[in-house]
Amino acid sequence: MDHFLYRDGRLHAEAIAIDDIADHVGTPVYVYSTATLERHYGVFRSALDGIDPLVCYAVKANGNIAVIRTLARLGAGADVVSGGEMRSALAAGVPPDRIVFSGVGKSRDEMAEALRAGILQINVESEPELEALSEVAVSLGRQAPAAIRINPDIDAHTHAKITTGRSENKFGIEWTAATAVFAKATALPGISLRGLAIHIGSQLADLEPFRQAFHRVRDLTTMLRANGHSIDTLDLGGGLGIPYGDDASPLPSPMQYAEVVKQTVADLECRLIFEPGRVLAGNAGVLVTRVLYVKNGATRTFVIVDAAMNDLLRPTLYGARHAIVPVREPDATTGHTVVDVVGPICESGDTFAGDIALPPVKAGDLLAIRTAGAYGAAMASSYNVRPLVAEVMVNGNAFAVIRERGTIDELLARQHLPAWLADDAPPRITKDAILST
Ligand code: LLP
Repeated sequence: MDHFLYRDGRLHAEAIAIDDIADHVGTPVYVYSTATLERHYGVFRSALDGIDPLVCYAVKANGNIAVIRTLARLGAGADVVSGGEMRSALAAGVPPDRIVFSGVGKSRDEMAEALRAGILQINVESEPELEALSEVAVSLGRQAPAAIRINPDIDAHTHAKITTGRSENKFGIEWTAATAVFAKATALPGISLRGLAIHIGSQLADLEPFRQAFHRVRDLTTMLRANGHSIDTLDLGGGLGIPYGDDASPLPSPMQYAEVVKQTVADLECRLIFEPGRVLAGNAGVLVTRVLYVKNGATRTFVIVDAAMNDLLRPTLYGARHAIVPVREPDATTGHTVVDVVGPICESGDTFAGDIALPPVKAGDLLAIRTAGAYGAAMASSYNVRPLVAEVMVNGNAFAVIRERGTIDELLARQHLPAWLADDAPPRITKDAILST
């Protein structure tokens, strides 16, 4: 359930009419609903009642500090995968002891920053990374609190680009090597191992892969304990899927997911960490876009909008189908026509939806692309020199711009002409001359 509903014929985010936001802030614009974020966090968290979880919001889903802070105020920690995400979480007010740092390629600088900040745990994904972390920790006179992310070799049955728990994926340490890696870690002076971590993929529509993966974690925990290691934390990752509007069957609920957790690992007396991203933020956001033109092609009708694949990459990258609705509520008797909703970018892949049934739309109309709160703004780029779009957060009858629209001037200001391309440059210029400029 979300808080994007029609009232008096206009799509609202909570009590604010979306067309008012578009008038004030322009389009394209991401609009987030505080009440929806809060509701989704509440549903996820209360499903886990009884096991005292630490819910670390996966910042990669939506890294806006207002989104992070909204969740942090409810008690969420943060799962981060870069120095930038860690700083965002800290800037949003997440206490360091609720931050976990995941990812296959942490740099030594990122490790040092994490250790200085005093975060809860660093999830290590390879032996070389373990050695590097130990060295960095020793150089700072500390021990790094760490967990080993294992790769359980389980197929998450999701899109190939977002499945992470198969042995051919780059993530984690082969589960069969866990015993050897724990033995090695014990001998490293800068490492204090706390437990295990997994994350098998994103947008899982089926609970069975979770069940298999959690069983594997359970077996490993028992085995490692028998070998004398203390396993205090189990980080079970994120991945729970959400409806996008065209789903073949209902998606598992947080309650059903929690049931699997309770049946598999809840009795191991470990602190359980979760890293949900999409399930918290996905349905809490829409991308609002204005129709530029309706073009009747030879075989199809194209609704050309001002948002593009650089603003919301998911349809192009994963073939994702986000529901698209008009901001002005169509009359119940209005018929639909089948159209392609496309952006202005010079690629045929810049298509939000092919063959989608929409009520008649004309230039100037607003459309809302739904379920865009996760991996929408976060994955945006300035391809085609299109500045990043604005983000707005609604809270009841208030709204605020939480990220300003970028400008072309900003993009150009970061570019520089080399000396030899200056208007007054001599035809050839030496390296010394360039270095002295
Ligand atoms: N933890 C780790 C270590 C992750 O790699 C991810 C997502 C999460 C947690 C959060 O997963 P979630 O609960 O959001 O499924 N850009 C893609 C999704 C990529 C997910 C990458 N990792 C998309 O738009 O579908």
